[in-house]
Order: sequence, then structure tokens, then C-alpha cells
Amino acid sequence: MGKFLFGSFAGAVAVLAGGFLWIRFGLVNPRADIPESILEKRLAMPSLDAALDRRAPETRNPLEPTDATLVAGMNIYQTNCAGCHGDLERPRGMFAEALYPRAPLFVQDAPDMSENQNFYIIEHGVRLSGMPAWKQVLNDQQIWQVTTFLSQMNKLPPQVLAQWRTVTTAGGTATPGKELHR
Ligand code: HEC
Repeated sequence: MGKFLFGSFAGAVAVLAGGFLWIRFGLVNPRADIPESILEKRLAMPSLDAALDRRAPETRNPLEPTDATLVAGMNIYQTNCAGCHGDLERPRGMFAEALYPRAPLFVQDAPDMSENQNFYIIEHGVRLSGMPAWKQVLNDQQIWQVTTFLSQMNKLPPQVLAQWRTVTTAGGTATPGKELHR
């Protein structure tokens, strides 16, 4: 039994050391434009989901999804997020496929996580991915606005959708936080 335990322990150490050396000595392909590996796909998303269940505080969204909030959120999204996550004009974004892991395409597949988890991800970003920590740029109010926009993205009131279409075709030049006046 003692020998068996020692053998298992030595085996585990050898595997860990091998993995460390594999990474340390550059045997991992560093390119972002290659298909995502099955191991990373199987591990990374469930790991992020589990980490969010543990860490994201149970805060309630203080905003109602009024047109004004949605337009403010849309402006923030169009200025800061659309390049990676896509918009009406370019649902696959500019960079979604240039990132590893790929950025989720919200126009095609609206985010389905709870608002407190989306808030937490937007505020803090995702380590080892292209997703930045937006608290450097956006205040809490703006993060809730864009969070509200994400929750309503696939069921926007027609007048908000029309404004989004206008901003998108104008090349996404709206100023963050500013409402559209037309
Ligand atoms: C430079 C590219 C980039 C920009 C800009 C960017 N993101 Fe991301 N975002 C990513 C990537 C890549 C992921 C996927 C991370 C992963 O797979 O773990 C991600 C993930 C997310 C997620 C989690 C989605 C999910 O289903 O797991 C949310 C929510 C999100 N981003 C919102 C935003 C918002 C809101 C903005 C703008 C304020 C934004 N992102 C800007 C690259 C970006």
C-alpha cells in the first residue's frame, strides 16, 4: 500500500512537472488564429461559470430597462464592445475570431448569464482572454446600463433597435454614456 501511494504521488508530480516544462519551454502554440483546443474549451468555460457562481456578489441591477437606459447602454456597447462582440452591421465583430479564446457573438447568441454575473465580468474582465476589466473606463452606473442592454439585446423595443441601427451604420461613433439626440 505504501509503495502504491508513493508511486501515485511520484506519478502525479512527474505529470505536473512535465506540464510545467511543456509550457515553460514554448511547446504551446502561442498563435491566436488557430482552432481552440478541446481541452481548453472543455475546461475554460465551465471553470469561468463555476468561478462566477462563487465570486460574483448577489447584487441586484438598480436600473429599470427604460428606453433611456437601453439607449445609454447601447451607446456604451457600440463604442466599447461591438468591435469584439459584434453589432447589427457586423454580427461577427471585427476581432471575435482574432481572439483566443474567441469572443462570444452577442447579436447571434445573446448573453444568458444572470445580470450580477455579467456585471462582475464586465467590471473585472477575464484573465488570459481578450476581455478587459472595464472598471478602468466605465463607472458602476455605466456598467449597469450596458448590462441592462445585454439582457434586453434580443428583445429591444423597436425605437431603441432603430437607434441602434442608425448608430451602427454611422460607423459606431457615438460617445460613451451620451444619449443619442436626433
Ligand atoms: C478586445 C476584445 C473585447 C472587448 C473590447 C470586449 N470584450 Fe467581452 N469578452 C471578450 C472575450 C474574448 C470574451 C470571452 C472570455 C472567455 O472565453 O473566457 C469576453 C466575454 C464577455 C462576457 C462573458 C460572456 C459569456 O457568455 O461568458 C461578457 C458579458 C462580456 N464579454 C461583455 C463585454 C462588454 C459589455 C464589453 C464592452 C464594455 C466587452 N465585453 C468588450 C473580448 C472582449
